[in-house]
Amino acid sequence: MTETLAFTIRDLNFYYGPKLALSRIDMDIQSRRVTALIGPSGCGKSTFLRCLNRMNDTIPGTRVEGTISLYGQDIYDPSMDVVTLRQRVGMVFQKPNPFPQSIFDNVAFGPRVLGLTQNKRELTEIVEHSLRQAALWDEVKDSLNENALGLSLGQQQRLCIARVVAVKPEVILFDESTSALDPIATLRIEELIAELKQTYTIVIVTHNMQQAARVSDFTGLFWLGELVEFAPTEQMFTRPEKELTEAYLTGRMG
Ligand SMILES: Nc1ncnc2c1ncn2[C@@H]1O[C@H](COP(=O)(O)OP(=O)(O)O)[C@@H](O)[C@H]1O
Ligand SMILES: [Mg+2]
Repeated sequence: MTETLAFTIRDLNFYYGPKLALSRIDMDIQSRRVTALIGPSGCGKSTFLRCLNRMNDTIPGTRVEGTISLYGQDIYDPSMDVVTLRQRVGMVFQKPNPFPQSIFDNVAFGPRVLGLTQNKRELTEIVEHSLRQAALWDEVKDSLNENALGLSLGQQQRLCIARVVAVKPEVILFDESTSALDPIATLRIEELIAELKQTYTIVIVTHNMQQAARVSDFTGLFWLGELVEFAPTEQMFTRPEKELTEAYLTGRMG
């Protein structure tokens, strides 16, 4: 079976000033699959994720070498519009970060800024559709004008997912997005990710290996800024090729 690639990453180096944080990373990220990135704290997972939508650009003194293409288009090429890139490659963070505004306005924010709708009816449709995709609609449909900060943490995180979905991205990045949540809220997000991959390419960073095993199709292990091993998740967890992977997965290292 031939798969479609969303991202192709070749010989990627990333520097914070003089410090090399990512070294010679090669990775193919399949479209409409879940790719999980694991590894100990400080090994470069978040840095790598932020390279995929150029969020590191905002950090002074950083430098990228190598190439990252999204459907064949070099995202670091000067012709790439960064606002468009971040619309295409959305991000959900560790802590839910809704605006202190209504639930409706949170989801409507992106479509309004980007001018995605012609009128109020279209905007209302996008908001409802996005909340449905984030598995939150049934819980909030009667309270759309209430402040988003009144929601539970798990609901707030699903609202953040709705906010990303509302601008019609192709890829959604999750950086430890369940680590602030209780087990039930975590499970709901994991179930949601399984749904979302039918429509979106998903890349998650998680320090939770069980989560990687549960939700992902491919797993990459980072270690000191290098990609130690990258493989289909089942293979990675049952027959890792590298000793370091085996040691990490069995809890002997990291
Ligand atoms: N803004 C920054 N400035 C300088 N160094 C950073 C910055 N962010 C992260 N680093 C360093 O880069 C390395 C990788 O960090 P990070 O990508 O956050 O790892 P992880 O997400 O795997 O915990 C670490 O050594 C970290 O200290
Ligand atoms: Mg991190």
